[in-house]
Formats: sequence, C-alpha cells, structure tokens
Amino acid sequence: MSPLLASIFLLGLCLANALNFTTVYEWDKFDFIWPSGADTSNRQRNFNEENVYLRYMAVFGERLFLSLSMDSGIPANLVWLPTSGTSAAPPKLAPFPSWNMQKQDYCDTIQLAKGIEVDPEGRLWVLDDGRGSCSSKLWIFNLLNNDTTERVHQFPRKVVSSSFDKRWLHDIVLDKTQDDQLAYIVNLKSEDIVVYSRTMDKSWLVKAPGGDWFSLALSPDREARQLYLIKYSSNGLYSVPVSELKNEGGIADVKFIGGWSDRPYRMLFDSANILYAAFYEQSYASKWNVSKPFHEQRFHEVGTHDDFWPFTFALDTNGSLWMTERNETGGVKKHKLLKAAVGAKPYLFGTPTGK
Ligand SMILES: *[C@@H]1O[C@H](CO)[C@@H](O)[C@H](O)[C@H]1NC(C)=O
Ligand SMILES: *[C@@H]1O[C@H](CO)[C@@H](O)[C@H](O)[C@H]1NC(C)=O
Ligand SMILES: *[C@@H]1O[C@H](CO)[C@@H](O)[C@H](O)[C@H]1NC(C)=O
Ligand SMILES: *[C@@H]1O[C@H](CO)[C@@H](O)[C@H](O)[C@H]1NC(C)=O
Ligand SMILES: *[C@@H]1O[C@H](CO)[C@@H](O)[C@H](O)[C@H]1NC(C)=O
Repeated sequence: MSPLLASIFLLGLCLANALNFTTVYEWDKFDFIWPSGADTSNRQRNFNEENVYLRYMAVFGERLFLSLSMDSGIPANLVWLPTSGTSAAPPKLAPFPSWNMQKQDYCDTIQLAKGIEVDPEGRLWVLDDGRGSCSSKLWIFNLLNNDTTERVHQFPRKVVSSSFDKRWLHDIVLDKTQDDQLAYIVNLKSEDIVVYSRTMDKSWLVKAPGGDWFSLALSPDREARQLYLIKYSSNGLYSVPVSELKNEGGIADVKFIGGWSDRPYRMLFDSANILYAAFYEQSYASKWNVSKPFHEQRFHEVGTHDDFWPFTFALDTNGSLWMTERNETGGVKKHKLLKAAVGAKPYLFGTPTGK
C-alpha cells in the first residue's frame, strides 16, 4: 500500500473505533414550546426552521441543554429538552430558563449563549457573548433550585472588550480546586485566556502567547490538569498546565502536542482521558486516548451536511456520550440526537490519577 493510501486507511472510520450510537430522537423540523396566553406577539413564530443550528450541549439529570446559533431570527438561543421522550414525536425545544430570559436587545437577559457546561453540583454555566450594546457575561443557574439565576458576572472591560466586534468568546471549561471553582474561557480576538473564580466572583487574564485561541478542553487528571487549546482555523493541538493560569497577568507556557487531521471547533475530555473532537465543515468526529502517544481515531461519520459544525456533544454522569448530528444526505435536512455508552464520566469527575 502506498503511504498516502495507508494514511487514508488509518484515518478512515474503522469499525473497531466507531462508537455504537443509538438514535434517541430524530427531527425533520424543530419547533419551540411557545408561551401560552396573549403575550406572544413579539415572538418570531415564522422563523425558518432550517436556520436552527445546534451549537453547544450539556446534560444534567433528565435534561439536555443546547445553545443555538442566533444568525437568522431564531426566537431562542438557549433551550432544553428531556433526555427521554414520552411520545413518538421528537420533543419541542423549551427556552431556558424562560421566554423572558430570551428577550433580544435587552441586556438583563441572555443575548448570545455560546459554551455551556454543568458542574457536579447541578449548576449550569452559560457563556454569553452579548450583542449590540450588551456586554459579555457569565451566567450561573442552579438546576436543583428551580433554575434560579445564582450569579451573573459581567466581564470588566479590561478582561473582555465591551465592543462586540473586538471580542469573540467561543467556549468555556470548568475546573474545581480545593476551595474554588474556576472557569477558563477563550476569546478568539485575543491571545489571553480569561479565568473566572466563583469564590471571588472575579475574572482576570493570563497571557498565552502564540494563538488566537478558539476551542478548548480540560483534562481529567486533577493533579496535573492541562488545558488543551486550538487556534482559530488551525489543526494544531496545544496544552498548558492549569497551575499557570492562577495568577492574574501571568504568562502561560503553551506547548505543541500534535496535529489533528482538520480544524476542531469543539473538543471534550471524558474522565478516562479520551479527548473527543469535531472539525469545521468535516463529516466525521475523532477521538484520541491521551494516555497514549497522539493518535487520532474516527468514531463517527455522517453523510452530507450544510453546516460548518455538523456535530455537538456532551457527556453525562451515567457513562454516555450524547451527540447531535445534522445530516443533509439526499437534500433532506435531518437532525438526530444520538447516545453511546463510553463507560466514562465528564472530565470533572476524573480521579486523582486521571483513570
Ligand atoms: C449497540 O447498542 C445497542 C443498544 O444499546 C445494543 O443492543 C447492541 O447490542 C450494541 N451493539 C454492539 C455491536 O455493541
Ligand atoms: C442517569 O441515571 C439516573 C439514575 O438512573 C437517571 O435519573 C438520570 O436521568 C440519568 N441521566 C441521564 C442524563 O441519562
Ligand atoms: C420551585 O418552585 C415551585 C413552585 O413555585 C415550589 O413549589 C418549589 O418548592 C420550588 N422548589 C425549590 C427547590 O425551591
Ligand atoms: C487508553 O490508553 C491506556 C494506556 O495504554 C489504556 O490503559 C486505556 O485502557 C486506554 N483507554 C481506552 C478507553 O481505550
Ligand atoms: C444520513 O442520511 C442518509 C439519508 O437519509 C442516511 O442514509 C444515512 O444513514 C444518514 N447518516 C447517518 C450517519 O445517520
């Protein structure tokens, strides 16, 4: 076999690496659970449902949370649905936490949800990039207390620009230390990592020279936790020990790890040190067992799609990977919610040895 053929063969979806996904739901069209009563006039019920693009996902208990792209008049940007259905029809999308919290151009509500994460204590963290004159914020909702807003942190100007076109918050990961919970956030328009402390309710910057950092993932190994990073539109994978992110104004030493086959827009670690990645415009998703030397294995593939981001994924605490896919094979747009047992938990449930 020629080297080129051999590498195509190695990168292709080999049955041994494919995850055994089952379909939980399949949608031909998305719909929302609309508010009851008369107060519905300001809602764009006649949105084009083909413009519903699923972006980030999180799972907790019996609910699955999704942020949606807001480019084309979609009425809500953060929604939830049940993890198992009671009827044959796929569920409608329910606004989270309410329709009132989805009012556009009203800075006291969620404007542009990007990365969303749940912590082990049942809080949903929502990275909101803001819109228009509304600043970027970090929202923390308590899912175990009627979804109440527990915290709203508006990023100070010196941390994230107040001007919408000078920032692009892309994704968030959560870290737990002995006495604090931290969030690490990437801003495509800067070389800095944004760090937020829940105990201090304070955010700061750490310089990470060399990148317009775009996607990120946190390793499960508590003692030697690493933040993995990707530059915008690049396939290079980098890492930095989280110990270097604690000091405001510090400079982190980012190291090159390896090159994915394409440009990841989303990455995720499980507690068994497996790193999952989905790639810009590509119809496959891959994983790497980080306990071994860099080696990419495709675990899923879809036919044709018309989205830059055909998949999004999240892990639950019962050992399942949840994934959405957009499939446009044969010109028909279909979305699926898939689920596969991987036998590992989300990264925050990693043990001290990372196993
Ligand atoms: C795939 O998962 C389904 C449902 O959990 C199960 O019935 C089936 O045996 C699995 N197949 C393989 C090859 O593991
Ligand atoms: C995990 O399992 C528990 C107990 O069986 C169940 O209540 C919960 O809904 C499950 N979570 C998910 C996301 O499936
Ligand atoms: C949530 O709200 C309902 C109705 O308002 C109330 O009955 C219930 O006690 C609340 N639950 C908690 C955990 O606060
Ligand atoms: C990852 O690699 C390590 C080291 O070789 C191995 O012990 C472990 O079982 C692998 N994990 C998975 C999920 O394959
Ligand atoms: C994509 O859609 C086509 C046509 O409906 C179907 O044959 C194919 O199995 C789908 N692919 C996946 C991965 O679901």
